[in-house]
Amino acid sequence: MLSLHRKHFYIINYTIMLKPGPIGVFDSGYGGLTILSEIQTLMPEYDYCYLGDNSRAPYGSRSFDVVYQFTRQSVMALFERGCNLVILACNTASAKALRTIQQKDLPDINHSKRVLGVIRPTVEAIGELTKSRHVGVLGTVGTIQSESYPLEINKLYPDIKVTGEACPMWVPLVENREYDSEGADYFIKDKLNNILSKDPQIDTLILGCTHYPLLLNKIKQYLPQTIQVISQGEYVARSLKDYLRRHVEMDMVCTKNGKTKYFTTEYPKKFSESATIFLKKEIEVERIDLE
Ligand code: DGL
Repeated sequence: MLSLHRKHFYIINYTIMLKPGPIGVFDSGYGGLTILSEIQTLMPEYDYCYLGDNSRAPYGSRSFDVVYQFTRQSVMALFERGCNLVILACNTASAKALRTIQQKDLPDINHSKRVLGVIRPTVEAIGELTKSRHVGVLGTVGTIQSESYPLEINKLYPDIKVTGEACPMWVPLVENREYDSEGADYFIKDKLNNILSKDPQIDTLILGCTHYPLLLNKIKQYLPQTIQVISQGEYVARSLKDYLRRHVEMDMVCTKNGKTKYFTTEYPKKFSESATIFLKKEIEVERIDLE
């Protein structure tokens, strides 16, 4: 009885501190839209606020400090627009900035707000997916060098061998809408050959960058059918739904009108044209500056 009272007290206390608002989704550019669209499909009733830091993308080859500063600024911008929960729909930001933001910044900014990443939900799913226990990860230079995937996978599944391959040209191909071009084939084939020659027993390949699902058709073209390719969107969406089920106090401060606002640090027209390809619908976009 006492604990029930205490639980109610905490929930009331929490909601007094946080004003209801949309769920924030952040990426360096367009890639996070592959995550957002899966989340919207699974949870259409919620409101979302998407921010693409397109003017400073790609983040993939930038230093730890720069990715952290850019990500922190973006999270702050989403908090200022009313978000209480922000998803870093970017592996590079999740690998290089998430922990510092969670542990160092959030207690100072607002200890009730939350920031979550995309690596953990993907890693949790992988144990069920691989049979050979040999997994490959394709990602940006930053994500692969951080070793976040092998570290996180081996914490949960010590028997899985993880091999990484950095694909620095893949994000620019997507950001510049070259993902269907003939030129893209060279870079895709080259990286797939590299990772499979490092470990020919790989049966599961994680697309560890939210831009890469746009290259999926070409990736599949150059892989044996026995290798399954994992896009993160559905795992992140399911994990978010589960998080909100377990954290009623956060769910209560997420508004639910089925609306999404889009922000970019680049030209809105450029963003909306490209975003249409990802989302298959027209959207309105507002430009913001970050600092
Ligand atoms: N979508 C980001 C990721 O998942 C792209 C990184 C970049 O901007 O290079 O890592």
